[in-house]
This record gives sequence, structure tokens and C-alpha cells, in this order.
Amino acid sequence: MTTASMGLIGVGTMGSALALNIAENGHDIALYNLDARTIDALIDQAGDLAPRLTKTETVADLVVAMPSPRAIILLVPAGGPVETTIDALLPHLSPGDTIIDGGNSDFRDTMRRTERVEAAGFQYLGVGVSGGEEGARHGPSMMVGGSKDSWEPLRPVLEAIAAKYQGSPCVAHLGPDGAGHFVKTVHNGIEYADMQMIAEVYGLLRDGEGRAPGEIAPLFTRWNDGALQSYLIEITGQVLAAVDPETGNPMVDMIVDQAGQKGTGRWTVIEAIRMGQSASVIEAAVGARVLSSERPVRQAASEILGEAPKGTASFDEADLEAALLVGRILAYAQGFRILKAASEEFSWDLDYATIAEIWRAGCIIRSSLLDDISKAFRSELPHGRLVLSEEFAALLQQNIGALRRVVAQAVTIGLPVPALSSAVSWYDEIRQARGTADVIQGQRDFFGAHGFRRVDKEGDFHGPW
Ligand code: 6PG
Repeated sequence: MTTASMGLIGVGTMGSALALNIAENGHDIALYNLDARTIDALIDQAGDLAPRLTKTETVADLVVAMPSPRAIILLVPAGGPVETTIDALLPHLSPGDTIIDGGNSDFRDTMRRTERVEAAGFQYLGVGVSGGEEGARHGPSMMVGGSKDSWEPLRPVLEAIAAKYQGSPCVAHLGPDGAGHFVKTVHNGIEYADMQMIAEVYGLLRDGEGRAPGEIAPLFTRWNDGALQSYLIEITGQVLAAVDPETGNPMVDMIVDQAGQKGTGRWTVIEAIRMGQSASVIEAAVGARVLSSERPVRQAASEILGEAPKGTASFDEADLEAALLVGRILAYAQGFRILKAASEEFSWDLDYATIAEIWRAGCIIRSSLLDDISKAFRSELPHGRLVLSEEFAALLQQNIGALRRVVAQAVTIGLPVPALSSAVSWYDEIRQARGTADVIQGQRDFFGAHGFRRVDKEGDFHGPW
């Protein structure tokens, strides 16, 4: 067991759930929240666990309530609130204390904060926590960044509260300072892509075939028993089956079609592009959320430009399932490419197999594919690329035809499939031995004398334009 005493700042939905998880695993925990009433409500409902929870009135009181060494988890909104909380904590800490940021912080902030907190004589961990409220309560997946010295003493408690996949805790120390939050950011990028592709398939059935949500739900439930088995497919079935208690309509039909986003999907794309990586499926998903928010424009455009005809199509269900499988594999593949690029740029030495392993339970993108992905990364991969592994190359080849048929049919009717179509294009780009960048190089040389390399000899050349 860890010798550190536990504290938590930010007792919202996630904070409350995590506090109960920690208490259930045998630890007393001191709590502080700006609005103390949430702590009262938590203690009221904590039952047998209530004696383990201590309410404190200020950040200073929280520190005083905890014997040293302390481990203080922050579950406050990313950005300013994390900064302000660190400012408030630093004057009260003792050597050996650790601040753990468990929010969705920008990894660059985490790098900077780690340096600052360590310079002040304390320890800092940036931990990506995935799994929503249910995960926080019964076992999240946790991606840890920071020094090994900060991680080792806290490892037992973090392993105890983590989700378990066949008994293995879904938490690992992945690298220094920002590594954990970076991996969580990419996790969220993949989450955006997977959610978007699922929504696209739903759209094909709703608009293309004119099916009601309640008729689509069983399909997702069935798919969840096959190759698509995953948390997101499972909950989609439940979302589509739900009925609005107020109106009796399908719940999903009563929800405004504008998706929110807190930034992690966008950060994934920004970092990918900054590192020269293509993350087209994730980018399409972020773009689709952005366009979803332009509801008035979409509504006007549906009048002016006209919408795709409704209820005229018939999609092959097996094709839809296989299309989602291919899209999911390619989204994971793009995510792992970004991780590889970051690992090289920041010398993090990320272990991709371990990352896949700690995503197998607890987190939002958990799926049956991740066990195979971890095995692929433990074997010799051509160029270190997932899509080139024997198993995934075969899976892609078997199923890519279905993705092509689905995308072709959707595009022909005029139904939007931005992420699925990006997936098929990316697949085709990456398998093309001779691409079309020869023309780009010719154009660049033509207008800017940028020069090009030739296929038949070394050197820098110009064309005869
Ligand atoms: C998780 C999720 C979570 C994230 C939500 C909302 O892994 O548990 O990624 O951390 O906050 O999914 O994210 P958006 O508001 O950006 O959709």
C-alpha cells in the first residue's frame, strides 16, 4: 500500500466517483471543492464509505488534514483552474508531496507545470483519466506521465483503483512530464473518430433507409457481440433504444444535433499536423463536430441547396459492420502514428503495446481490437506500422471492399460520411507505391524553382519549364 495520504480537489461528478473508488480501496481521502455542498451531498450518499471522506473548507485546510507525504489529485477544468489550484497549493506543501493532475490538460501545460512544481521541491504527475463517471467510480484507465520517482510510491493505489483487464490494472507510467496527458489527448482523438463513424452509419440507416432509432438499436446490440465489440458500440445501442419519458419519442430524436467539444480532439489534430503526421479520420471527426454546431447555416443550406433524398436506399448490414471495423482500425492506426511521432520528438520512448493494453478496459475507446493491437505491437512490425502487421493487413484487405461500397453508395446518394470516406482515402494513399506528389514537385519547381529529386540519379534538379 502507498504511504502517501490521499486528497482530492474538484469534487464534481468525476471527483465524487473517484473519491468513492479510492475510499472503497481502503484509503482515507480529504476533499476540497469551491462549492462545499457537493462534498456534503457526497458524504450523505457515501454509506459505509462516509467515515473515510473528510470535508475541508480551504486548500490550506485540505493540506493540513493530510499527513505528509501527500498525494493530491486535481480534477478541476483544464487551463486556468489547474494553474490557480497549483498556486494555492504550493505554499502549503512539504517535500515528498505530489500533485496529480487528473484532468484533460494540454500536455504542454503539464510539461511546464511539472518543471515548475519540481523546481519548488515537490512532485508532479500528469495523468490522463478515461472512462467517465462509471470508470472513475469502478475503475478508469489511467495514462501516467511524470518522473518514475513520483510514480513508484503511488503505483499501488493507482493500480488498485484502475480498471482491470483479465486481472491486469489498466494504468501505466508511460513517460516523463506531458507523456500521459499526450496519450490521453490522442485517446480522445480516436474517441472522436470512432464516435463520428458510428454516427455516420446511424445516419445512413436513419436518412438513407428511413429507419427509426428503435429499429437501428438492435443492430448495434448485435454488432457488439461480434468484431466491433466495444464500449462505444454498446452505448450507441442503448442511446438509440432509449425513449424520452416526457414525449414518448425516441430520445435521440429530441436531442439538438450540435456536438460539443472541450478541445482534446482538436489538439490531437493540431499536434499531428505540427509533427507532420496525417490524422485525416480524426480531423474529419473534429471538422464534423464543428459543422454540426453551424445548425442555422445547415438548415438554410438544406433549403437552398436541397437535401439528399430520404428513405430511398438499402445498405447491406454486413457491409456497414465491416466498414466500421476498417474505419476503427485506421483511426487507431492514425492515433498510434501520432504517438510514435511524439515519442520520437520528445524522446519519451512510449511503449505502444502497453498503451493498447491499458486501453483494453475502463476507457471510452475500449474494444476487442485492442488486445490484438497490443499483440501486433509486441511483434516485429514492418516500419513499425500497425496496418502492415500480418493480422491487421489481412483484416483490412478482407473488409476494405465493404467500406468502399458503403462510402460509394453514401456519396452517390449525397449522405455525409466525412470520416468513413477519409478512412478509405487514407488507406488508398498509404498503399500506393508511386503517389502523385511528382506533380506537386513539378508545380513547386515551375512556380518557385524549389527543385526536385529524380528517380534515376542523386542530386537536386529543375525541370525544362
Ligand atoms: C474519457 C473522455 C473524457 C472527455 C469526454 C468529453 O476518456 O473519459 O474522453 O475525458 O472529457 O469524452 O470530451 P469532449 O467534450 O471533447 O467530447
